Amino acid sequence: MKILAFAASNSRKSINQSLVNYASSLLPEHSVEVLNINDYEMPIYSSDLEEAHGIPSAANRFIAKIAEADALLISFAEHNGNYTVAYKNLFDWASRERMDVYQSKPVVMLSTSPGPGGACSVLKLANESAHFFKGNVTATLSIPSFYDNFDLEKGELTNGELAGKLRQALATL
Ligand SMILES: Cc1cc2nc3c(=O)[nH]c(=O)nc-3n(C[C@H](O)[C@H](O)[C@H](O)COP(=O)(O)O)c2cc1C
Repeated sequence: MKILAFAASNSRKSINQSLVNYASSLLPEHSVEVLNINDYEMPIYSSDLEEAHGIPSAANRFIAKIAEADALLISFAEHNGNYTVAYKNLFDWASRERMDVYQSKPVVMLSTSPGPGGACSVLKLANESAHFFKGNVTATLSIPSFYDNFDLEKGELTNGELAGKLRQALATL
């Protein structure tokens, strides 16, 4: 399968990106493309901008990347219980191109944060709303207390139980 993987964060030091990179390394039997949402930066969505200039080409490029994939792997960063502005903006523009942003693809949704909550609020939000955007969520997993459970130098989960749960989640793709 062709799997498109990305972190829903625009941070250059994104811990969700580290988690996505690790999760991707657990899928050697598949072809995984890891995308950086910074390559899809657009002005803040506004209906005025859309009326004046249409939908930016980056939104089309993002939609096309999803179209090419057989499955998606997304790790959500949480800002104040919600999506990062960077991902929400990309998603809003993309949804103007086509409402079914996830295009009926199987999706594994992950999240992590430095705190004990592991960004579970945004993960719940993303999971529960996925059907509106034709996302077929096959598994979700929140990794709490990222820095206690992940070795950044080695780029891997150090918590064996969580690593097992991640493998189980990825096996649903
Ligand atoms: C504006 C802001 C709001 C945040 N809100 C939350 C939050 O609601 N829950 C949480 O677990 N962490 C929160 N954090 C901490 C993030 O989880 C942390 O910055 C994490 O590194 C973000 O993921 P990323 O590195 O993949 O971008 C917040 C951080 C910022 C800057």
